[in-house]
Amino acid sequence: MSEVIEPPPVSAAVPAEQSKFKTSDDVAFYKRQIRGPNPQYRTLLDTMVLTERGARFELLQPDSQKSLLLSVSPCKNNTVRILIDELQPIKARYRVPDVLVGEPQGERMSVERQSKDSVTLSWSSGRHQVRVWHFPFRLEILCEDEVMVTFNSKGKLWFETLQEPPRATSESSEQLEDEHTSSLWKETFKEFVDIKANGPSSIGSDLCLHGFSHVYGLPEHADDLQLRDTRDGEPYRLYNLDVFAYDVYSRFGLYGSVPLLVAHKPDRTLGLFWLNASETYVNVHYSPSEHQDDQTPPAKGVQKQTDVHWLSESGVIDCVVLLGPGPQQLFSQYAQLTGYQALPPLFALGYHQCRWNYNDEADVKAVDAGFDQHDIPYDVIWLDIEHTDGKRYFTWDPEHFPEPAELQHHLQRKKRKLVVISDPHFKFDPGWLLYNEAREGGHFVRDREGQIYLGSCWPGACSYLDFSNPDTRAWYSGCFSLEEYKGSTPSLFLWNDMNEPSVFGGPEQTMPKDAVHHGGWEHRELHNLYGFYQHMATAEGLIARSGGSERPFVLTRSFFAGSQRYGAVWTGDNVATWEYLEISIPMILSLSITGIAFCGADVGGFFRDPEPELLVRWYQAAALQPFFRSHCAIWSKRREPWLFGEEVTAAIRTVIKQRYCLLPFWYTLFHQAHTSGLPPLRPLWVEFPRDESTFSVDNQYMIGGALLACPVIKPGVEEIKVLLPGSDEVWYDVHSAESYKGGRTLSLPVTLDTVPVFQRGGSVVCRSVGSGSCTAEYKELPLNITVALSSQGLADGELYLDDGHSFSYRDRKAFCLRRFNMLSGRLLCRPASEDGAFDCDTVIQSLTVLGVKNKPSTVVVHLSGAKDSSAAFQYTETSRMLTVSDLNLRVTKDWEIQIL
Ligand code: NOJ
Repeated sequence: MSEVIEPPPVSAAVPAEQSKFKTSDDVAFYKRQIRGPNPQYRTLLDTMVLTERGARFELLQPDSQKSLLLSVSPCKNNTVRILIDELQPIKARYRVPDVLVGEPQGERMSVERQSKDSVTLSWSSGRHQVRVWHFPFRLEILCEDEVMVTFNSKGKLWFETLQEPPRATSESSEQLEDEHTSSLWKETFKEFVDIKANGPSSIGSDLCLHGFSHVYGLPEHADDLQLRDTRDGEPYRLYNLDVFAYDVYSRFGLYGSVPLLVAHKPDRTLGLFWLNASETYVNVHYSPSEHQDDQTPPAKGVQKQTDVHWLSESGVIDCVVLLGPGPQQLFSQYAQLTGYQALPPLFALGYHQCRWNYNDEADVKAVDAGFDQHDIPYDVIWLDIEHTDGKRYFTWDPEHFPEPAELQHHLQRKKRKLVVISDPHFKFDPGWLLYNEAREGGHFVRDREGQIYLGSCWPGACSYLDFSNPDTRAWYSGCFSLEEYKGSTPSLFLWNDMNEPSVFGGPEQTMPKDAVHHGGWEHRELHNLYGFYQHMATAEGLIARSGGSERPFVLTRSFFAGSQRYGAVWTGDNVATWEYLEISIPMILSLSITGIAFCGADVGGFFRDPEPELLVRWYQAAALQPFFRSHCAIWSKRREPWLFGEEVTAAIRTVIKQRYCLLPFWYTLFHQAHTSGLPPLRPLWVEFPRDESTFSVDNQYMIGGALLACPVIKPGVEEIKVLLPGSDEVWYDVHSAESYKGGRTLSLPVTLDTVPVFQRGGSVVCRSVGSGSCTAEYKELPLNITVALSSQGLADGELYLDDGHSFSYRDRKAFCLRRFNMLSGRLLCRPASEDGAFDCDTVIQSLTVLGVKNKPSTVVVHLSGAKDSSAAFQYTETSRMLTVSDLNLRVTKDWEIQIL
């Protein structure tokens, strides 16, 4: 490895916010809006125009005589889009491109009622309505005559219209005396000066969510799943930043942003999607407030509500209200807007081994061999920045990685993969071909003077690719072709890091907002999109590399709404302490409910060294989360699973193997995310929407609809409390098969080996039986199906199968989706969809049925075209568990098992 890198001077004594980052008090547009006064707008009801896709109105601000244009567009899928722009801007304002996947089908509206005060428009046979009030302007959305959401309920609509820059007269220099007016065209933070070419252009509005007292979403923050009332502190910030060893329980913005807020109450789930990529803040006010909740009961008739105030630095107001009504519909509406989770190649759901850095090819091969020696399956080994030649991405360090293709072949022979890092900055090096190509192609972001922007990152002086430019993306994608990327092979996959973008020594360690992108847009307009675009270009590059046939795998640190279409996300530079393990669960759940379903945290903690107990607990939790990768910093000690003694190795081996056995279930859940928008990892309330005891739970989660996990996340624990929701539910401990009635909190004794997981009665889970060294080997194994009976003796579940790596499932419908259904003692295996055909030999070897009240006399197998046969079984009376073995039933065939 080249030079020694010093660990950043992070100590617990310096909270991230107080060092190089801003608080809301440092942000001029935020202060302007909060200070007010908020102008009141008047809807000119007689300007209403009804169109194919909704209605338009002019809004007038009587004092300034400035006019805005409001459009309201309801869509077939139960969403309403509210768009506000200037009626006659002096130039176009930025509208976020490339995030929405096509326009959802609009609905026509008709006038229901009209008076001088308001107009009520309805669609979907009158079930939904919007009511637009004349003065002050507000807009209500009603479902079945009940007001769900009021836009501008508190009159916080704010729209700074673009102006010509002031001329330098004595009058304007007098104005500069005032702190607020002086920051309109130029803002200073520490030594950084931000020149605002367009002057003040911020926007904002509040929305009232009637009847709601639980809201979630808005990643990425290291905080609880349920959003807090922000009256006692900072607003939620959405501004993508590189925050090393971020503070926990903070509303400070981290690496990525999804401006989707999800509100839930027992009979309704709603979403507010604020499509804006500039720096954004969100204030949340619950009424009655938490304080009132605890102390004094709210006065009779006081309705619950949550007020959400959004404030963005620029752009337009583009807000989509998703009306649910349930969590599943909400996820589907959101996926229709921003895209579904990409279906990962199967290997990506296996275990990933990473560190900054594996030193050389021999080191990689030794670690790879270590997994075999210790009988621990894994799929991917990762190389961080040190693998490159002087931090020039797309190159290899000639001394330590002289034969990269051979290294990949070595791994590929064992059906394993290599991932390498590729950051968005390019070393300033006129002697490097790729740098010159990028410069000559006009692919770099420019500074406000029009020169190529020069920042600093790992290579030292560097420039940043302008991924917002489609030509740059196409050029960058081409760099991943096997011909261009020397030393790459089809088993090489990618990792995009530092793409907030991170700029060492930059304002808040990022790019100045007045840097200029393609089309002349300032960086401030699209800051939160930067990582999204790099991820897009990388994924498209990998797809193109295979001629369009293979699924890519790309992990990104920075993201925006829609990033789910391109791969996986991880939660950045956490620390090897218990509180970071604990916070990783709500962080991953927040990502999951806002579309980013393929997500995970660095196992063990990136910075510092975990004690062995923490490492084991982290593996146990992460093995039950979507993206499962161990990673640590260059200053951390080696951490391969076998370095801490046999007890630790055995505990880690157990959970990694359990993860591999559960892959048929995980893969099916990813298929579901890919087709319906439901995330594999779900907060309990998603599965138990009416059970209020689940609404604030974020140390437990559901994996699909079937498994409830409650990982141990505290040290020295001997007993753990697990909420088992639903008073008519039955839950089965997956390890002991013991059953528990739902609607209670269970106290469960635990040892270092215990990972509390329960299967919900009424579900079916498929697992591989046996062991292997990677996903490709597990894929060949036979399956067990575990049928957990509900109190009515029913159960239902699905299994999705395809080749695990290509797009044939999409292009040639080469997949199969099977359904297992248990009713009156008969288990049927049938197609779950008429679509798809996939020839595979996978067999169901055994069946486990949980909750069988009496010992059966016989178990009969019916297979079409064959004689009925009776199967060997075992019944355990104490746990009421039936096991039927030696079945050998092809999963693609229709069959039936009858328990008599
Ligand atoms: C920061 C990333 O968050 C971390 O995972 C990586 O190891 C370092 N950059 C070095 O590339």
